[in-house]
Amino acid sequence: MSVQKTANPVELEARRKVGVAAAALVAPGMVVGLGTGSTAAFAIAELGRRWREEGLRFTGVPTSWSAAELAREAGLLVRTLNDVDRVDLALDGADEVGPGLALIKGGGAAHTQEKVVATAAERFVVLADDGKLVDVLGRKWAVPIEVLGIALRPVERRLRELGAVPALRKGGGKDGPVVTDHGNLVVDARFPEIPDPAALGRALDSIPGVVEHGLFVGLAEFALVGSRADGSVRRIDAEPRRA
Ligand code: A5P
Repeated sequence: MSVQKTANPVELEARRKVGVAAAALVAPGMVVGLGTGSTAAFAIAELGRRWREEGLRFTGVPTSWSAAELAREAGLLVRTLNDVDRVDLALDGADEVGPGLALIKGGGAAHTQEKVVATAAERFVVLADDGKLVDVLGRKWAVPIEVLGIALRPVERRLRELGAVPALRKGGGKDGPVVTDHGNLVVDARFPEIPDPAALGRALDSIPGVVEHGLFVGLAEFALVGSRADGSVRRIDAEPRRA
């Protein structure tokens, strides 16, 4: 199982190229969801460059405290979802990208806010290096689940009934658990594999005390995928496309 986010230089270079390609999708006046994680950070940095050097002006809606900090450092205009009347485009990374662009997200424990922003967006584009493409979700990554602290044990029991091995995510640089931007805990639910992400997503949605899980199904319009072999970036459309 992996909930440890690490990347080697080749992966990071592929993600950088994807981030640059993603930033090119932003047009003047747009409201843009700004994702969390290393890949989205490259997009934010490139948007900062475009802001400074090209005079591109748009409104960014960050998906986490971390993304907001990066966006401010890049000199971008930052607003909350409650300050804007629409989101034109959301750009965000993923931990695994499966068939139909079903995703596992939440390696950075930001998936609740990421899902709110992606769902509010007219278009959601997922950004990844090609090492994240999988035939079946869940063989490598656990599903991150943001949980109310008061519901931890009952949620863990229900996850076991669903076939998962749950593990409370522990903090780095802190004793005890990770606490999300919203004051909740994260349980990483390891399933042997996830052949039907939509069905599992519905089952997780039905558990009281679950704030949000990291399965994103039917949200991404297309993926920008960076090759670790040659540095090229290709577009993969979801099948079927979101109406
Ligand atoms: C944040 O909680 C995650 O959903 C990230 O979007 C995801 O982990 C991808 O991050 P990297 O781009 O760093 O791999």
